[in-house]
Parts: sequence; C-alpha cells; structure tokens
Amino acid sequence: MIVNNKKRLVVGMSGASGAILGIELLQILREHPDYETHLIISKGAEETILQETDYKVAEVIDLADKVYDINNIGAGIASGTFKTEGMIIVPCSMKTVAGIASGYSDNLLLRAADVTIKERRGLALATRECPLSAIHLRNMLSLAELGAFIMPPMITYYNKPISIKDMNRHIIGKILEKFGIEVNGFIRWCEG
Ligand SMILES: Cc1cc2nc3c(=O)[nH]c(=O)nc-3n(C[C@H](O)[C@H](O)[C@H](O)COP(=O)(O)O)c2cc1C
Repeated sequence: MIVNNKKRLVVGMSGASGAILGIELLQILREHPDYETHLIISKGAEETILQETDYKVAEVIDLADKVYDINNIGAGIASGTFKTEGMIIVPCSMKTVAGIASGYSDNLLLRAADVTIKERRGLALATRECPLSAIHLRNMLSLAELGAFIMPPMITYYNKPISIKDMNRHIIGKILEKFGIEVNGFIRWCEG
C-alpha cells in the first residue's frame, strides 16, 4: 500500500445546527494541501445540510479527500493503528456528545472519536444546543476532563464581524489552530 506523507485529519459532521461550519471548515482545509481530510457525515447532518444550506450532501462529500459510510465500523479510522492528527466534529450534536462521553460507539463517527480519545490525540467538538441542559453540560464536562476541546460556536465580537461568514471563519480559525493550522483572516486580540 502506498502511503503519502500528508497529515490526516478526521472530520465528523453530526446533526446539530450549523452544518455550514463543517462545510466551510472543509473548504478552508482544501487551502492546506499538506492535510488530508477523512470525513464522516451522520444521517442527522445529512438532514441539517439539506435544511440549513444550499449545498447538496454530494457537494459536501466532494470537499473531502476521503469519505466513509457511517455504518462502516471496519474503516481505517476505526482503529488506533491508523495514524491521524486528531479529529474535529463540527457541528457536534448533543446525541453525539452523549455517545462519545459514554463510550457507546455504535457508528463510525462515535468509534473514531472513541479512538481519538484512547490514543490521546486532539479532539475538538463544536458542540451546539441552546439552552444546554444539565445532561448536556455533564457530558461536555466529562469530555473536557478527558482532554477534548469543547468549542461551541460562540459569537466573538472583538474581531468586529460584519457577516455570518466572518463569524464562522473565526470559530473555524480557533478550532484549526488547536491542530497547528493557521487560517487566513483569523483576527487575534491585539494583533488585528
Ligand atoms: C434542522 C435541525 C437542527 C437541529 N439542531 C440541533 C442542535 O443544534 N443541537 C442538537 O444537539 N441537535 C439538533 N438537532 C437534532 C439532531 O439532529 C438529532 O438529535 C440527531 O438524532 C442527532 O444525531 P447525530 O448526532 O447522529 O447526527 C437538529 C435537527 C434538525 C433537523
């Protein structure tokens, strides 16, 4: 088997609101050819892509280097021996948070996250629900204690966004910098 020397990043999209964040993150990662994206889309995310954006699921799939069926629990990313830089789930639903927090890996998205935690690789979760219940908060705390970055798509004001795209780019910039990836146009405090 020929293995290239690109860094692999697993990207999961689940059925929380904010499908556009996952789409724009994949688009930004295409500007970084040293990275290879490995994408899993849940059924819930297929629904939010259709409900919330003008993209077709097939167009989102085309943005990734490799795409997996969520039921394919025998895929490479289901094993810790498959080397990756870590995993980002954007957006991340409360159901997926609960699955990861309890170790209930009954699909490839949950299994890949479970592997990321057990291998102690970076795991960033753009968790989204409003309001958050005590169940949601407890699950997110468990994951934060395990080292996951809990990164709800919160609006930042200091960068003076003038569009939703500006706001999205900021949260995507924050997520990707956890993996050492610099996003063009990401405005840092006192550096803007
Ligand atoms: C348009 C739409 C928006 C949704 N927004 C959220 C949300 O913001 N957060 C959330 O936890 N679930 C949300 N849901 C519900 C999830 O999609 C649902 O719980 C689903 O079972 C999650 O499964 P998954 O994590 O496997 O994608 C939304 C569903 C739809 C159709």
